[in-house]
Amino acid sequence: MARAVRLDVAAPPSASVVADAIEREVALRLRPDPELLERLAATRTALIERAEGEARRMNIPLVRCIIAGSAARGTFLNDRIDIDCFLLFPPETPREELERHGLALGRALLEAPQMRYAEHPYLRGTFQGFTVETVPGFAIKDPAHPLSAVDRTPFHQEYLTQRQTPAMVSDVRLLKQFLRALGIYGSEARTAGFSGYLVELLILEFGSLRGVLTAARSWRIPVLIGAGRTPPPGVPEEVAIVLVDPVDPHRNVATALSRRNLGLLILAAGEYLDHPDRRAFELPPPSNLPRAVAVDRVARRGTFVLAVELDRPDLVDDVLYPQIRKAARALATEAERLGFDVVGTASSAGERRALILLETTSSQLAPVEVRRGPPAGIDRTGEFLAKWTTPGVPVLQGPYVTDQGHLAVEVPRRTTGLPELLRESLPKLPLGKDLREHVASARVVPLTEVTEGPELEGALAYLLAKELPWRRWNSGD
Ligand code: UTP
Ligand code: MN
Repeated sequence: MARAVRLDVAAPPSASVVADAIEREVALRLRPDPELLERLAATRTALIERAEGEARRMNIPLVRCIIAGSAARGTFLNDRIDIDCFLLFPPETPREELERHGLALGRALLEAPQMRYAEHPYLRGTFQGFTVETVPGFAIKDPAHPLSAVDRTPFHQEYLTQRQTPAMVSDVRLLKQFLRALGIYGSEARTAGFSGYLVELLILEFGSLRGVLTAARSWRIPVLIGAGRTPPPGVPEEVAIVLVDPVDPHRNVATALSRRNLGLLILAAGEYLDHPDRRAFELPPPSNLPRAVAVDRVARRGTFVLAVELDRPDLVDDVLYPQIRKAARALATEAERLGFDVVGTASSAGERRALILLETTSSQLAPVEVRRGPPAGIDRTGEFLAKWTTPGVPVLQGPYVTDQGHLAVEVPRRTTGLPELLRESLPKLPLGKDLREHVASARVVPLTEVTEGPELEGALAYLLAKELPWRRWNSGD
């Protein structure tokens, strides 16, 4: 008996027991204290009353004001509370009037309001010490036919509050924190991660944090969630998750999520379930790689890093980031077409510039270029031969017949360096509309010549410090 008990005590606790303890502790840390919740509730009420009062006073046809988002449901994280305040106008309001009324009312409500832009302009400011966003929208009856991007929000609010239990609310915060620690929480284009609403729907669907992670560890991309629902039409090729919005069958809730970020969650879920660790809920220090360190690393790797810098177009991150990523893909494709091997790409935007980095296995092509001619036996061979046998035309070798029976000639390559070659190609690459307008400002330079700055260090870390986050915990890197 005693022996059996000793053995029992010595046995390591199972992973799920460890995870239980960690999650209890983290949940406690993430739980907003009752005093804050009371203050928040009072502020929500005051905000609605003030909005409706100001609208009457200013003769603005506000249908109603609703508070939605995480501050309305208790699913916020303490260190990033923002109150999402939706100002809803009659559906027949012209868009221009919606914007005008929305901004005027928002200015009457908020202290230190600042303009932000999404589909239409909105304000971010403070009210009773809380950060508040006032967002105009249309008071619609059917969320399957929204007039603007935010019109579904009141329906989300109703859908979630009717279904969430306090345990789920707590697990929403845990999952948000887990994703944040991986750097993949947030649906803004820069992050391309999980939106708050997506997180809440995942917890509803799978019941708990552990339920989501257990399902996620064996997901294969693309993931279809919610059996029996058909994906909305027009789901893009590169989609990571399809989760149909329960209030709108035409809408995929996960449109912003990238496949890279979903892949990271899938692997992190398996890692955490097998080896639960509280560091899975801790935010890592920002990853930056100083240029000097990067130059050293590149030298040791024997690779080449090229930078393309452009003056920043006057655009918000949500519009700019997709364009920079598109430009990075275009540059990589072009480098491959020219005959370079691309190891990786990174991109970022700072206040003054947009930046794209490209790592390749070499910086130069050989100074010989093979020009393939027509197959033997067709009329055009005469033309090809005449062109390349004209006296004075520089030919290194040939014309000759290739192993495939084509004519070919080898000529000197005038431009051999990747920076020069890409500089030549840049104007004809598919860059995004707004970047294209700034192409004249582009500087295409090796890493050693690019201007230093935080956006460079961030992109360098992305390019040259690739690692699974949990493997970093013990490496001291
Ligand atoms: P938020 O992005 O503020 O999300 O959008 P959240 O749920 O409050 O989460 P955190 O804690 O702040 O990160 C607020 C609401 O706006 C709607 C959703 O209903 C969301 O709950 N929304 C937001 C959309 O419908 N579409 C979007 O692209 C973004
Ligand atoms: Mn919010």
